[in-house]
Amino acid sequence: MRLSVVGCGYLGAVHAAAMASIGHEVIGIDVDERKIEQLSSGVAPFFEPDLQELLADGLAAGRLTFSTDIADAAAATVHFIGVGTPQQKGGYAADLTYVDAAVDSLRTILKPGDLIAGKSTVPVGTAARLATRIEGSGATLVWNPEFLREGWAVKDTIEPDRLVVGVPVSDGIDGTATGEATAGGQRAADILREVYAPAVATGTPFIVTDYATAELVKVAANAFLATKISFINAMAEISEAVGADVTQLADAIGHDVRIGRRFLGAGIGFGGGCLPKDIRAFSARAEELGKGDAVGFLREVDAINLRRRERAVELAVEASGGNAFGKKIAVLGAAFKPHSDDIRDSPALDVAVRLHGLGAQVVVTDPAAIDNARRAHPQLAYTDDLDDALRAADAVIVVTEWDEYRRVLTPQHAGSLVGAKAVVDGRNCLDAAAWRAEGWRYFGMGRP
Ligand code: UDX
Repeated sequence: MRLSVVGCGYLGAVHAAAMASIGHEVIGIDVDERKIEQLSSGVAPFFEPDLQELLADGLAAGRLTFSTDIADAAAATVHFIGVGTPQQKGGYAADLTYVDAAVDSLRTILKPGDLIAGKSTVPVGTAARLATRIEGSGATLVWNPEFLREGWAVKDTIEPDRLVVGVPVSDGIDGTATGEATAGGQRAADILREVYAPAVATGTPFIVTDYATAELVKVAANAFLATKISFINAMAEISEAVGADVTQLADAIGHDVRIGRRFLGAGIGFGGGCLPKDIRAFSARAEELGKGDAVGFLREVDAINLRRRERAVELAVEASGGNAFGKKIAVLGAAFKPHSDDIRDSPALDVAVRLHGLGAQVVVTDPAAIDNARRAHPQLAYTDDLDDALRAADAVIVVTEWDEYRRVLTPQHAGSLVGAKAVVDGRNCLDAAAWRAEGWRYFGMGRP
């Protein structure tokens, strides 16, 4: 099929390359000329495992092209929207400027029978509003939220857990929505089944619903994940008060299949381009709907999350002898999570910036995110070399659980470089007993 993807960031670039890899003819559109130049020459503009190979294959096969000109997408029949919906400046709501602009630009090329499939995370009600904007074009709009995780984006796009499509539904005889797809909605769902044929063929659940449900599925999933992380981080706070070990607690409750161990990793909490802004946008939208109380707990989820960053700073101060001023602190990690170079709302960098603010000589290292981190926070010192970061450090803090730090780095090797053997494990990813056995003072998050 001929597809276009408007917006070539973390979501859109991966979607375009992944769709080309399963046999479609895809054009990626973005207003950023530099990004389009990079993508066109097979260079991934950000770190994402497997993306580079997929780009190269798609370009070589002639199935994948990129352009800044929306007119080049005119031959496509399905147009995905993968632009960002960042948090508004000075508010909690999502900024829909880019989504609106994407629909307006698509309006100039839409043909009868075309499909617009929105993938961006949007406040509930957006799809219905956008559908009115394309009325008269003969095209149909559906909402097809994306659940990919950075670091696993290619796999998550090609082999998703589920596919969700919000389509236009018909009104019943009393004028209220029936929840049943209109003929146009059914046709749209069938087209998307064809787009995602390989995943559909392997039995991936394909859920056809109305716009509002599809939009809510996405924010509800992210709100649930954020709540799960903050729940275990709240238990970490309690554990700290009584000398309990939150990692053992998580293992023990995680054995209950109704709870499950995943996303019960206590530490410095969640960040990134999705969870923080999505729970805030959800709260803001619920307030607008007069249902703010229903998701009032998300404010607490956010607050718990932010408190853990402060706790990590306290521990780093304690580890460096009670005062961080003038102390060299090696900060291992800058990305908001491993396998990513994304530093948007990164708890790792936030901790580094706060320590710098206390007068520490912070040296940050990361296998992928240093360039991005340096651009955002030029006041910090950076090094690509882990040994350099560790050399003569008064304290070490692990804030992103890259394999380089949790598996490859040994307490013996680190001990041979640092000035003082004190380590804060901001992700509870080190073997505390092994580090202690080498003479390190070990500080975990919610651990004795
Ligand atoms: C998230 C959702 O997982 C994904 O489905 C959605 O499409 C986009 O948002 P992502 O932002 O890539 O994906 O990261 P995710 O793996 O969810 O991690 C989010 C944050 O939570 C990271 O900062 C991570 O370090 C943190 N986290 C995760 C924890 O602190 N503890 C955990 O147990 C798991």
